[in-house]
Amino acid sequence: MEKHTSIHTAIREKRGLEVPRDATVIDIREYLKERKNLIDHALERYLKECKHQPQTLYRAMQYGLFPGGKRFRPILTVACGELFGGKHKSLLPFACALELIHTYSIIHDDLPALDDDDLRRGEPATHKVFGEGIALLAGDALLTEAFHLMTGPQVARLLGPALILQLVHEIARAAGIVGMVGGQVVDLEAEGREVDIATVDYIHVRKTGALIHTAARVGARIGGALPKELRRISRYAEFLGLAFQVTDDILDAVGLPTTTGQTEAKDREKGKATYPSVVGLAAAKGRAQELLHHCLKELQVFGKDADPLRGIAYYVTQRVQ
Ligand code: IPE
Ligand code: IPE
Ligand code: MG
Ligand code: MG
Ligand code: MG
Repeated sequence: MEKHTSIHTAIREKRGLEVPRDATVIDIREYLKERKNLIDHALERYLKECKHQPQTLYRAMQYGLFPGGKRFRPILTVACGELFGGKHKSLLPFACALELIHTYSIIHDDLPALDDDDLRRGEPATHKVFGEGIALLAGDALLTEAFHLMTGPQVARLLGPALILQLVHEIARAAGIVGMVGGQVVDLEAEGREVDIATVDYIHVRKTGALIHTAARVGARIGGALPKELRRISRYAEFLGLAFQVTDDILDAVGLPTTTGQTEAKDREKGKATYPSVVGLAAAKGRAQELLHHCLKELQVFGKDADPLRGIAYYVTQRVQ
């Protein structure tokens, strides 16, 4: 397998680790709950538009999407949009499209050909209920419907075709070969092999980081961030995306199915390239903290307005689910 150098290692070496002085912690739970409700309602509306024959496909899409998980990516889009004054009406179609893409990715991720996980969010995985063929096709349909949603006439009236074209172009990149799908490929090829931490970073930045990075950028762009502001948000979200997967690895290693909603210690069983397997649990936890500090540093210039994004970064690195 190819050797991969980690962009994060490079960034870390350049900047050192400083704890931001003005980091405040807000109670993010209420914020997350409210935004999740907003997103759930919008997703219900959008999914109804997909209610066509064959019924099995629609039911499998519904099963994958509801009751749903944390809705982390769309919440991030909304939070980054709000920071620059973006309206929910303009942010929700793209936020929901990202959740459709995420849902497709986890339905496929659980299939026997990939992680072979029978449990998702504490319930049987989509393929366990509908069979592998329908699960595969439900994932395909969710991905395709995401693009249908982003390019619809109502969204065009709200955002204008030029911005939509740029955002869709960026999302397609993040979800594809240089992003999520590419990362999943290297994740699969690394199974059962000895890999170094740069390879783990390479996988994590792509399979998980890319979509999270894009979710934040899309929100900031719809909200009207200036180029300088967008660069800050981009860096914040790069650190956040990696932190998210490092924490997911830690939870797989230490969590119970009741907290992870997945089969216990699945990564170990599959010989996955993870932070705990390569650097150990303590170093993985240290890395998550380090990434949190980097996230907070990028937010300093935004002052108190960025409290929700600060809270999100804390939540990501300290979440129990
Ligand atoms: C699971 O993502 C897949 C990863 C990229 C780690 P989430 O942890 O966001 O899953 P849900 O949507 O909240 O269940
Ligand atoms: C999944 O990573 C990443 C994507 C679905 C793109 P994991 O395989 O670690 O996610 P979980 O732990 O099954 O949710
Ligand atoms: Mg996987
Ligand atoms: Mg998995
Ligand atoms: Mg995992």
